[in-house]
Amino acid sequence: MSNRCSDFVKADCIYKNQNEQIEVRVRDLLSKMTLNEKAGQMTQIERTVATHSAIKDLSIGISLLISLNLLILSGGGSGPFDKASPCDWADMIDAFQNSALQSRLGIPIIYATDAVHGHNNVFGATIFPHNIGLGATRDADLVQRIGAATALEVRATGVHCAFAPCVAVARDPRWGRYYESFSEDTEIVRNMTSVVAGLQGLPPAGHPNGYPYVAGRNNVIACAKHFVGDGGTDKGINEGNAILSLSDLEKIHMAPYLDCLSQGVSTVMATYSSWNGSKLHSDYYLLTTTLKEKMGFQGFVISDWEGIDRLSQPHGSDYRYCISESINAGVDMVMVPFRYEKFLEDLIFLVESGDIPMSRIDDAVERILRVKFIAGLFEHPLTDRSLLDTVGSKIHRELAREAVRKSLVLLKNGKHPNKPFLPLDRSARRILVAGSHADDLGYQCGGWTMTWHGSSGNITTGTTILDAIKEAVGGETEIIYQKYPSPDIFAAKDFSFAVVVVGEAAYAEALGDNSVLEIPFGGSDLISLVATRVPTLVIMISGRPLVLDPGMLEKVDAFVAAWLPGTEGAGILDVVFGESEFVGLLPVTWFRRVDQLPLNAGDHSHDPLFPLGFGLKKFGVENHSIE
Ligand code: GLC
Repeated sequence: MSNRCSDFVKADCIYKNQNEQIEVRVRDLLSKMTLNEKAGQMTQIERTVATHSAIKDLSIGISLLISLNLLILSGGGSGPFDKASPCDWADMIDAFQNSALQSRLGIPIIYATDAVHGHNNVFGATIFPHNIGLGATRDADLVQRIGAATALEVRATGVHCAFAPCVAVARDPRWGRYYESFSEDTEIVRNMTSVVAGLQGLPPAGHPNGYPYVAGRNNVIACAKHFVGDGGTDKGINEGNAILSLSDLEKIHMAPYLDCLSQGVSTVMATYSSWNGSKLHSDYYLLTTTLKEKMGFQGFVISDWEGIDRLSQPHGSDYRYCISESINAGVDMVMVPFRYEKFLEDLIFLVESGDIPMSRIDDAVERILRVKFIAGLFEHPLTDRSLLDTVGSKIHRELAREAVRKSLVLLKNGKHPNKPFLPLDRSARRILVAGSHADDLGYQCGGWTMTWHGSSGNITTGTTILDAIKEAVGGETEIIYQKYPSPDIFAAKDFSFAVVVVGEAAYAEALGDNSVLEIPFGGSDLISLVATRVPTLVIMISGRPLVLDPGMLEKVDAFVAAWLPGTEGAGILDVVFGESEFVGLLPVTWFRRVDQLPLNAGDHSHDPLFPLGFGLKKFGVENHSIE
């Protein structure tokens, strides 16, 4: 990008001088901006409304990728068009960026997406296990490496910002976003925030706490979300109300943000939910007094999708009320995402009328510009095409396969002490593979994959469990796959053993709220049908623990919780066929019945089926009797 300041005006373009200090550049640029341009920077819009003029003339600050997918979600598309290549993505985003660079001050946009388990909207990208599976690994180094790999794939497509990590401490599996949390345990979540250093790069020793950090062009702007208490709502209701003391809010839900800030996380997303009836999007005490002043956060606070629209409005109030309440509370960037003209008009009215002080606007814009300068977007606004080959690369898929291996939790292995069922025999004569999730990449990946809610089927490139079994066994072994086998198959054939793969359909957010939590698709009955006839390993693909019928569990020979492993299903077979050992530990409590919920470690009435931290190591044997 040529520096548009001629020598004559160069003195007037301090902000374009990359050798200047960040804060000097921020103040210089801010001093040049009009109110309209400042308001534009605080606006996050949909791609479909991101016209050239909107970006250029209104100096729009950030364009949101995933919401675009949400918009074209109905078409099943997940990018510029269905199965677009990384290069197509980069072309699209660079076109938007070039519009921004033609604006009066040439301020680049931030392009953002929900890369929450890999670059999960891009066809062919590596899809890592969702956070609940990573929590089972307890491996901070692994999670940091996953962050770094994700950052490469995201930047390869031109995207600058990932709305990740979700650092919710999920306290109730009825919540539809339970799988986006690393754990019910605050300390485990704190340990897993190493993903921030992976995404953004590791700040140098002495980096000031709370000050944003992005190492370079191979890294992204990260976003710790959703501040604060999203995982602690009553009955796990999505966007609900967390009813708890300030000390419990700080101890359980806020602590992971301390680690994110110490790693220089650049943005924090407000939660839709409330704390003791106060909507976070308009909570000055938590967004400003606590996060910005007490904890020292100097990046920017972004609203959630139409988060300000969901503020409870007094009778007769309107959108201006929402804007005024949220911006004055401490929201710096608003994920509008469609009606940006209305947002800009109202925001400017509120400033000119004195309802929102210019000092609040300047603070918000300073924070946004700070992140843009630190991310190097003024020097390198366009995509580094040399990264394109990293998307879905072999090395990243190997990393994902390692994560799958380490995420598996062995809950049962053998019906009799000292007689383990696993590892399976690769040279078995005949294997039955059954279940709704044995050959379904979409279910394996879960929500936030190719589309917002995710879906069944061959949604991207990867290896299903059935594919992996076929690759793992010897040539003499016969594999019979029947999603829902009928009883008569057992009369016709005798099997060495069966692998039954059951689990949940894909879901996201409120769609996943569920107070029944039974194994869907008749999974429990299928397991009993097979396990009473053939030695059986059950693999469960789910975003959370589900009710396990005591009688069913007694019948199976082995049971593995695989969470939502992503594209590299072979990682599961690496372990069940004995190439690697089981190391995973439950990151959450496995309840017996839903009437026990919420049920977390340390609760007085603690009577779980399997406690937090349970996991048979290696190929340990435990005859787990169910009372
Ligand atoms: C969603 C989610 C948030 C996501 C945002 C943009 O509603 O709450 O996690 O980053 O919108 O897609």
